[in-house]
Amino acid sequence: MRILAIDTSCDETAVAVTEDTKVLSNVVWSQASLHAKFGGVMPSLAQRMHEERIDWVIDKAIKNSGLPGGRAKLKIKNVDAIAVTIGPGLAITLGVGIAKAKELAKKYNKPLVAVNHLEGHILSPFAETELKISYPCLGLAVSGGNTLLLKINRIGKYETLAQTVDDALGEALDKAARMLGLGYPGGAILEKFARSTNSGQAQKNPYSLPIPIIGHEERKIFTYSGLKTAMYRLVESEKPLTKEKIQNLAACFQNAAFTHLVRVISFVLNHKSYSIKHLLVGGGVSANNELRKRLRKLGKEFEINILFPYTKKLCSDNAAMIGIAAYFKTQREEFVDPEKIDRIPNAKI
Ligand code: KG4
Repeated sequence: MRILAIDTSCDETAVAVTEDTKVLSNVVWSQASLHAKFGGVMPSLAQRMHEERIDWVIDKAIKNSGLPGGRAKLKIKNVDAIAVTIGPGLAITLGVGIAKAKELAKKYNKPLVAVNHLEGHILSPFAETELKISYPCLGLAVSGGNTLLLKINRIGKYETLAQTVDDALGEALDKAARMLGLGYPGGAILEKFARSTNSGQAQKNPYSLPIPIIGHEERKIFTYSGLKTAMYRLVESEKPLTKEKIQNLAACFQNAAFTHLVRVISFVLNHKSYSIKHLLVGGGVSANNELRKRLRKLGKEFEINILFPYTKKLCSDNAAMIGIAAYFKTQREEFVDPEKIDRIPNAKI
């Protein structure tokens, strides 16, 4: 099943062509540098940029989609379905992708598939692999907008086990990076600075920050607003900042943020009444090496396979994951009427 997939949920204009779980092309035009001077995404600017770029990105995705075995590049008329993200995301940017998907579905008379962006992240480890998963398994989405732990009874059937009640993990990392003057989006830059504290002489981090809800993980929430306030106070008290201080503060924040995440997952694993063999992980923050290390350690402890997308390119926003989620939906014949498709900015999974 060949799918042309579109995602305009935030500040990336993303289009991919997938064939079942294979990725034939995956084009992401990022607007991040345009939003950097505002310290976050400006929705109206993002909408305008999506509108300007979407045809070009679709064209490039089609051009790049040479089929295996040297077969010719696809044309839109040769794909079997069009898929598009309907939420969660920014209402006005989701609208751009949906309008384009609708237009193409009608013009080429193709079935249309509506995809939840979070389902895309959770299923991204299926890309390019023949994963043999036993169900139920768990799914973890760690992105700029969500921190979500799910029980996956089967693909398409999810139960929320723990979720964000305030800032998402990626958002918290971005804000911490901003407090340290590291730019936007800050998660990856914060990781770089945090990592440099481990190079050379191992030294004890002079800072400490409170681990959110420590000892109360039974609440099964992910919360970062208290940690963020504590970080703000700590940063203010340490000004003027030196490079060494920034490195230690970055490492300290990452440590507190990841410790909280892992402790909640660990609580869930310790108290579940069913057997789990796999944890699927996706979302921008899953590119973080320190987080991967901690999750793998958790996996060893509980004898669980921790599965990430085959390339870090599929951690951050992309449309290949939307094509893959759509493929599973087409197998269940879950199509949507082009006249009825609509954005759901707060879509739940
Ligand atoms: O999945 P994503 O691209 O967009 C959403 O769906 O939200 O996630 C973006 C988030 C940002 O907060 C970004 O700072 C974070 O992922 N991120 C990272 C890393 N790379 C991206 N956070 C920590 N370490 C990284 N290496």
